Amino acid sequence: MCGIVGVVGNKSATDILMQGLEKLEYRGYDSAGIFVTGGNHDSLVKSVGRIRDLRSKLGIDVAGTAGIGHTRWATHGKPSEENAHPHTSATGRFVLVHNGVIENFKEIKANYLPADSFKGQTDTEIAVHLIGKFVEEDGLAPLDAFKKALGIIEGSYAFALMDATDATTIYVAKNKSPLLIGLGDGYNMVCSDAMAMIRETSEFMEIHDKELVVLTKGSVSVTDYDGNAISRGSYTAELDLSDIGKGTYPFYMLKEIDEQPAVMRKLIATYTNADGSMKVDSEIVKAVQEADRIYIIAAGTSYNAGFGAKQMLEALTDTPVELGVSSEWGYGMPLLSKKPFFIFLSQSGETADSRQVLVKTGELGLPSLTVTNVPGSTLSREATYTMLIGAGPEIAVASTKAYTGQIATLAFLAKAVGEADGREAAKDFDLVKELSLVAQSIEATLSEKEKIAAIVKDLLLTTRNAFYIGRKSDYFVAMEASLKLKEISYVQCEGFAAGELKHGTISLIEKDTPAIALLSDAAVAPHTRGNAMEISSRGGKVITIAMEHVANPDDDILVTNVHPHLSAIAMVIPTQLIAYETSSQRGLDVDKPRNLAKAVTVE
Ligand code: M6R
Repeated sequence: MCGIVGVVGNKSATDILMQGLEKLEYRGYDSAGIFVTGGNHDSLVKSVGRIRDLRSKLGIDVAGTAGIGHTRWATHGKPSEENAHPHTSATGRFVLVHNGVIENFKEIKANYLPADSFKGQTDTEIAVHLIGKFVEEDGLAPLDAFKKALGIIEGSYAFALMDATDATTIYVAKNKSPLLIGLGDGYNMVCSDAMAMIRETSEFMEIHDKELVVLTKGSVSVTDYDGNAISRGSYTAELDLSDIGKGTYPFYMLKEIDEQPAVMRKLIATYTNADGSMKVDSEIVKAVQEADRIYIIAAGTSYNAGFGAKQMLEALTDTPVELGVSSEWGYGMPLLSKKPFFIFLSQSGETADSRQVLVKTGELGLPSLTVTNVPGSTLSREATYTMLIGAGPEIAVASTKAYTGQIATLAFLAKAVGEADGREAAKDFDLVKELSLVAQSIEATLSEKEKIAAIVKDLLLTTRNAFYIGRKSDYFVAMEASLKLKEISYVQCEGFAAGELKHGTISLIEKDTPAIALLSDAAVAPHTRGNAMEISSRGGKVITIAMEHVANPDDDILVTNVHPHLSAIAMVIPTQLIAYETSSQRGLDVDKPRNLAKAVTVE
């Protein structure tokens, strides 16, 4: 949430900041701003809306060699120019961008600052006023003032701070919110995410929590808050500019949906040896083998992916799997088993709610694995182990290839653990073959886009609400399918256990209420069909998505057969396309739905 970019050196800061903000826009897009210095004069430009709105306000005189920029996802104060970052101190000398939430901003305001000196309602403005006060009233040097403020501020933050009297330095600090240093030749940068800087450099340096960085064009000095120097090497990001473009696609989401067969095949290559045996870190396998219960902690789509993998994990490892919503578990863990193993599922690896639980498991000394799409992300760094999904950057806010990639990655883990335990169920499960069939099944569904578009036009174009129903694994897919439809098309949709509907919720079915039934499991498909009949008898419009082995001639969308352990992957694809079509046919911004942001880095 919120994207930060900053640069100091020998290049055009305006160009670097603006292209960086465009790459970071998926992190928040209700307002944006830049501060540019080191030219003929300093410029502070802000705008409500998208980066293109900010761009349209820039004149050619907004030029310089250093600056900071921000794209906002509002937490404190509505989207407005006053609340857009960068924020300035009372005299305008200090300029700050921030990602995170300052929890004690009211106390800071009451204890240190005059009540009437603020332009907006943000917590960030209070931080920069505090720094300004420590310099201009108390006589501290900027770095000391920043350190003093960091000693008072509580909460999550990634800060980039500039002093308008010094165009050669950016001060940076972080706690809980992501921030990276980008290293260039004659310039250095700071950003929330490597994507913002990949045009300029592929050399990056991590910053850890409660570290302070002073950045000039030729130096990067990292210390802790007590001033002790920290030495840290850099790493090369394996990102390609073409990975983060959308090519000829109208939206990233469609590109990412289409990439899923390739993601499945890449996972086969990543997690199998040439002889077809599993290539999963033996330490991870051993840690799971020793566990008496697996806890999967995640949010949103990643949480739904955990359900998509639960039955398979239990069947192949013979270990019970419990799911936890990270925002709930962060505030109170249930009674844990004697030997728990925690799996954190997170596309971004930055979700603050999940991290909160990870910190607790770390304090308890419990082993943990992060399954993520972002190498080097916070959750990856802080868990005991990491397995990468390797799906390539997922930029659309609506997660698609991460969901299917997470389930497939967990399939490799489940099979490796089951085989190490000598379980027949795991040995008999030919994952390479089955996942290849999944890739083919996805391709077959992708070739039905026109048909799906027509169904959407008929059924979902104007509806205000809808249902997905299913049983067992199809129920878990229904949860994800409804989240996808809700988040990008604003249709109020419930993913429901088909049999549960008649226990109350069926009263919501009216004439023409759309209900999409998912049918992939022969043992329960007839019951789900019965529930679908109950809906159509009450005027609802039922659409069926059926796997071929349970299909009837009049089913609406067919999915080719895949192994039941992997059915969530195949069954979710038509629902992703339904969500995409509904949003695009309604003329919405598919990739950037209202009120949302891609990486949720606040609790
Ligand atoms: O990066 P994460 O997987 O941890 O993110 C979790 C959720 O915020 C995320 O899946 C969210 O629900 C998506 N927008 C859903 O499409």
